[in-house]
Amino acid sequence: MQQFAHDTVVVLDFGAQYSQLIARRVRELHVYSQIVPYTISADDLRALAPKGIIFSGGPASVGTEGSPRPDAGIFELGIPILGICYGLQVMSVMNGGAVQRPEHREYGLANLDILDVPSRLLHGVPQGSQVWMSHGDSVVKIPSGFVNTGSTPNCRYTVIEDDGRKWYGVQFHPEVVHSTDGTKILSNFVLDICRAKADWSMDSFIGQAIEDIRTKVGDRQVLCGLSGGVDSSVAAVLIHKAIGDQLVCVFVNNGLLRKGEADMVLKLFRDNFNIRLQYADAEKDFLDALAGVSEPEAKRKIIGKVFIDTFYREARKAGDVSFLAQGTLYPDVIESKSPSGGPSATIKSHHNVGGLPSDLKWELLEPLRELFKDEVRELGKELGLPDELVYRHPFPGPGLGVRCVGEVTKQRLDTLRDVDAIFIDEIRKARLYDDIWQALACLLPVKSVGVQGDERTYEEVCSLRAVTSEDAMTADWFRFPPEVLQRAANRICNEVAGVNRVLYDITSKPPGTIEWE
Ligand code: XMP
Repeated sequence: MQQFAHDTVVVLDFGAQYSQLIARRVRELHVYSQIVPYTISADDLRALAPKGIIFSGGPASVGTEGSPRPDAGIFELGIPILGICYGLQVMSVMNGGAVQRPEHREYGLANLDILDVPSRLLHGVPQGSQVWMSHGDSVVKIPSGFVNTGSTPNCRYTVIEDDGRKWYGVQFHPEVVHSTDGTKILSNFVLDICRAKADWSMDSFIGQAIEDIRTKVGDRQVLCGLSGGVDSSVAAVLIHKAIGDQLVCVFVNNGLLRKGEADMVLKLFRDNFNIRLQYADAEKDFLDALAGVSEPEAKRKIIGKVFIDTFYREARKAGDVSFLAQGTLYPDVIESKSPSGGPSATIKSHHNVGGLPSDLKWELLEPLRELFKDEVRELGKELGLPDELVYRHPFPGPGLGVRCVGEVTKQRLDTLRDVDAIFIDEIRKARLYDDIWQALACLLPVKSVGVQGDERTYEEVCSLRAVTSEDAMTADWFRFPPEVLQRAANRICNEVAGVNRVLYDITSKPPGTIEWE
């Protein structure tokens, strides 16, 4: 294994939900952090020369046979260790301590009682600091050499420290925001105890990622599907920086894009970034296949199938390709919790290239899979992508196909594109775009009577929707100042032929979804 270019703190992953969050918190301290499976050998870990090791939490119980254990040689490396939750427990039992399952598992907030003994880990943390606990087992006997420095009402050994060996353990989760001084505790470990240099930034990530991509790809070719969204765009620009013309991008215009989107993508990637780009104008194929279909799932299936056929055709044209690049981010990666299998990944089913024919034997190249969305945005800015793209709202793969409720025709799509463009324009003018998770317009298969000039009209209805959200799993409707909606509605009725009524959707998710379909 290759040594890191920067001081690094490695997170040993025991299958925790929060491993990536730990790594991210360390990166926020400007120290590089990477996850490795808990099965890594002590020799491989030594070769990486990390400044510190964090044992993550995990769903297993240390008392259970076959529960994950790190290589015991890791305790001989002389590198500082911080065990979190399961990490604390496994460190304890492997060094002469004991763990028991109390009657009640503890889940939720607690206040930390900082004991009257010197503590490097809790330095600067106030008495009573709020911590977030989530555990079944508790340590009931600490290994010799350790001192108990913090407790909570339900857990005596909440914080233990062995300054001699530089081993530390916390039963709570310092990486989650509910632990109010969690960052301070991680910083005490990473910066003061491990003495890692805080000199890492997105810029250094780029350097490291470029090296990794070059090593992995060699002189082979990489294919990347560009959607115009931030993830695939950042992945493409990063890979292009690493291997130049060995990267071929494919951009499929499915006819379901927003107004001006295809031109924007072509101009940006071909003209500004000089990236080899195969453009497939497949609008007619998509619209022909969708003709007469109104049922949402049927539409999605057709869009997915035509996409795959088109992408496949383009891929064949691209020649001898060895890798498929994807802008998969950490939240897209579902980690296996299987103790023996280590982290394995499946790709979200709605990633549009998921269903490609199996005779294309591509390796996956996913340079963003360690990162969170906001880190990818930072990276995109660093790589010179325009703000308009970097801070763009999410847009679904099936595009306006799911927003053109009812039959999808070129005429209805053009109408919807005009409505959407006005709505987004008014949001931008009101400087509200960045306060909104996602804003969209739908065209409904409903006609209503109106009056324009002195004429009776009988036209379609459109619905506007804007939501706030953290992760799209739940969402709330956005409270617009009324005049913004008023301006949007006026302009839509005046400027877009075929629409004479505008609704604003105030459904939260659940029970509604964000898209209408
Ligand atoms: P819903 O409508 O389920 O959407 O509340 C949640 C988020 O996912 C987006 N979405 C999709 N994204 N392909 C995608 O790439 C899809 O098929 C798809 N369907 C929904 C949606 O825009 C929202 O951000």
